[in-house]
Amino acid sequence: MSDSLLVFDGIGQDFPTPGRRAMVRVLDGISFDIDRGKFVAVIGPSGCGKSTLLQMAAGLLAPTRGAVRHHGRNVTSVNTEVGFVPQQAQLFPWKTLQENVELPLLLRGVPTAERRERVAAALKSVGLDGFESHYPSQLSGGMQKRGSIARTLVYRPDIILMDEPFGALDAQTRMVMQSDLQTLSIEAGATIVFVTHDITEAVLLADNVVVLSQRPSRLLANIPIDLPRPRNMFEPFRNAGFEAAYDAVWTEFRSQIDTGRVH
Ligand SMILES: Nc1ncnc2c1ncn2[C@@H]1O[C@H](COP(=O)(O)OP(=O)(O)O)[C@@H](O)[C@H]1O
Ligand SMILES: [Mg+2]
Repeated sequence: MSDSLLVFDGIGQDFPTPGRRAMVRVLDGISFDIDRGKFVAVIGPSGCGKSTLLQMAAGLLAPTRGAVRHHGRNVTSVNTEVGFVPQQAQLFPWKTLQENVELPLLLRGVPTAERRERVAAALKSVGLDGFESHYPSQLSGGMQKRGSIARTLVYRPDIILMDEPFGALDAQTRMVMQSDLQTLSIEAGATIVFVTHDITEAVLLADNVVVLSQRPSRLLANIPIDLPRPRNMFEPFRNAGFEAAYDAVWTEFRSQIDTGRVH
């Protein structure tokens, strides 16, 4: 049995179709592990069940078959040790950045002085110090995303689950965010599961890329990415070995892309 920090062990998931007349098999026997301090990217076509996997790790959904284990224990209820960064920033518009980032600590009953200190550190780590009293509407999309990441970092989760976090950002902001996330993950030794459908993003960020097929989704490959760090996020092709790593992922992924159909 694997002693990895997080283990997806033979995960299967069936969902009822609308009207509940039948069941659709979404995930079929998915197994992979995430060791502490590792960055794992999960890539797969739209609708293959990537978000569903993250929901299971967060304990928001029980798998139909198989189990998710965290610290060797089955995840059977809401997993408060993981942090979740959703696709949209989801900061409360009526709260300042300070108040938004402080919220998880308030909910956990962390005393005022410690809250202040931890919020300041989290905002600094994402480059948002000085913007404490801004409201989300006064921040750019990239800054809101940083705020959302700070709100996750502030309660020091054991694992950070990120669901296509940079999908909605413009291309330049996205590169900057990828670069900053790399720095953050190296400095903090964070353990990250990162869902994306961008091969370049997966290859640049990850230690391992898990490639999923179309529904019913199976694990096609778990590809180690051995490019040295730090990696150049702005000029992917300048990283020695990038092309071979991209090819390795693309070879698995290409059969899953149906250019004539969009889900
Ligand atoms: N709670 C649910 N009930 C029924 N079907 C669902 C539910 N959640 C997800 N699905 C279906 O499962 C499939 C996978 O969804 P999802 O995990 O969001 O895919 P991805 O994130 O890879 O795009 C989709 O077809 C979606 O419609
Ligand atoms: Mg999704």
